[in-house]
Formats: sequence, structure tokens, C-alpha cells
Amino acid sequence: MTNPSLLILPGDGIGPEVMTEVRKIIDWFGAKRGLAFDVSEDLVGGCAYDKHGTPLHDDTMAKAQDADAVLLGAVGGPQYDTLDFSVKPERGLLRLRKEMDLFSNLRPAQCFDALADFSSLKKDVVAGLDIMIVRELTSGVYFGEPRGIFDEGNERVGINTQRYTESEIARVARSAFDLAMKRDKKLCSMEKANVMESGILWREVVTEVGEDYPEVELSHMYADAGAMQLTRWPKQFDVIVTDNLFGDLLSDLAAMLTGSLGMLPSASLGAPMANGRPKALYEPVHGSAPDIAGQGKANPIACILSFAMALRYSFNQGEEAARLEGGIETVLANGLRTADLMGPEGGTPVSTSGMGDAIVAALDASL
Ligand code: IPM
Ligand code: MG
Repeated sequence: MTNPSLLILPGDGIGPEVMTEVRKIIDWFGAKRGLAFDVSEDLVGGCAYDKHGTPLHDDTMAKAQDADAVLLGAVGGPQYDTLDFSVKPERGLLRLRKEMDLFSNLRPAQCFDALADFSSLKKDVVAGLDIMIVRELTSGVYFGEPRGIFDEGNERVGINTQRYTESEIARVARSAFDLAMKRDKKLCSMEKANVMESGILWREVVTEVGEDYPEVELSHMYADAGAMQLTRWPKQFDVIVTDNLFGDLLSDLAAMLTGSLGMLPSASLGAPMANGRPKALYEPVHGSAPDIAGQGKANPIACILSFAMALRYSFNQGEEAARLEGGIETVLANGLRTADLMGPEGGTPVSTSGMGDAIVAALDASL
């Protein structure tokens, strides 16, 4: 039998250096757990633009469509800020999401015990926090037509359109209910049904889908109130489902509850492929952090946790994913800290590669 294929797109900024650490983890699972992958690497974002004049070459797009899973680092950097909108690094990422039809974006916000002091909120508000935001990723205002900057009379007008079909809402709702069934059976849906028709439809369709999940306790919240409740008492939530733009905002907010953006992974999932695996792309929530790129300061944990999500959601290896997450917990409990995690209580400073090596050592110790 051939090994499952993994396409790695390190991207820009700190992407390549955190991905180097993920490669160590992938190699470890191949050598020690008999979980070998056929790994190939390619360009996305600014580095792809530099080489090909486009942030995502058609060949790379085709490879992503064929891969069993895609692992992405980060895209973007100040040197690309002045590029035409159509070839900005972010367009490469958005094209991957859209053409792979990755409609369900899972963004966990989990607070590691060793880092509970690190949040800007009080420790008892965040300790033990474990919530999952399911963000719709292929529609809404990110993609709706009409869009553009147009002349209107003697001034310009900027237009984007929030648009959701019933089926788009239903499929992401279903993925959120399925997830809730595997967790605490609690789902909160967030929109702005008080001011937006797309929000009214969102609420109706989520409620209809919920009829198939009588065991899940469904609630609805306006997204602004949701933001407020997320900072007030985040532990009231288990799974949250929301649209593309609200999900973008709320997931950054939820991420910071846990102390560091450098800790959070994500999975973007689509429909099942012929082999039964979902179309899937995994990436850290943090960006390319150009200010610290190439200095060995970046925290590789979010990207390594993204690979753990790949083990769980693409390759049905929940136990091995838990082994990897456990290894990370051990390393943090032992006080190892990359620069972003260095709080007033101190710790042992480690570089990007030092953190990767320590996680490999913790994996060895787990055998
Ligand atoms: C995210 C990012 C992206 C988004 C950008 C880089 C296009 O903020 O994944 O949250 O807005 O979706
Ligand atoms: Mg974002």
C-alpha cells in the first residue's frame, strides 16, 4: 500500500522555520510509529509570487487537490503590501480554500495549564478552557458578488456582499453539530439576525439542521454579544458556529484568551474525497510574523498542533494526535518557553528548533 500524501506549503516569514520543526515530528511518526507519509513541498504566497508572478501556481493548486492533506505555514510580508490586490500573498491562501471547497474551518481555543497565567484575563476565567470555533470559510462577504471599487457620481464606492445560500449554511452547520456530538453536545450559533437578512436565514437553517441532532443543546447569539460573552466567561461555550467574517474576528479573540497566538492550530475541511478522507488543509492561526522571521524566535507549536489535527481528522489517528498533544503539554509543563511565551514567571528560553527538539524528546519518552 502506498503511503498517504502530504503537501507542505511553508510559505513566507516564519512559515519555513516552523515547518522545519513539523518535518522533525513527521519523520518521528514515520520512524517510530510506522506512520510514513509521502511528503512533497511547494510554494505559496509571496515566495510563489517572487518565483512565478502569482501567489499560487496552477501546478501547486493541482497538487493540493490531489494530496491527502495539505499543511501550510503562513503567507504575507510587508514587501508585498504594495502588490496589486489580485496577486497579494493572501490570494493564494483564499484560492486554496475556495477551489478545494474547504467550507468548515475548525479553530480550537485551548488553554494549556502551564500557560493559564499567560492570558490577559484572570486565571480562573481561562484555566481549562477548551472551545472550538467552526468558521464558514468559502462564502459570505469574503467571496460574495458584486464586489469592487467603483465610480459613482463624483466619488468612489467600495462594495462587498454578504451572501449565503441555504445549502452553504446547512453544510457548515452539520459539520458543527457532528463535532458537538463528539464533544459536550452544546452548540452556539452566532450571526447578526437583528440587522442582516443573511443572519435571519443563517439562524433558520441552523435551527432546521438542529432537528436532526436532538441531543445537542443549540443556542443562538448575536455575534457582538458573543464577542462580549467570550471575554466575560468563555467556558460557557463548547462549539461555536459562525460565518466567514465573524469567524475571522471571533477566532482571533478566542485565540488570545489562551495567551498566545503562537499556540493555536486550525483545520479547514471539505467534502470527502474518493478515499473517504475529507479535503483538508491544516495551518496555524498565526500569520507570517515578518518582524521575527529568520531569527529562531518563532513558536512552532501552533504548526505542530496543526499536524496533530491532520493526524486526527485526515488520518484517523486520534491516539497518535493525543500523544503529540501530550508531548507538547509535557514540554510546557517542564518550563520550556519560546520568546512569545516568556512571561513574568520566567522559564527556560528555547529557540524554534530547541522547542521542536524538546517535543521530539518528549515523544521518545512517551513510548
Ligand atoms: C485568517 C486570516 C486570513 C483571513 C487572511 C490571511 C486572508 O486572517 O485565516 O484568519 O482573513 O481569513
Ligand atoms: Mg484572521
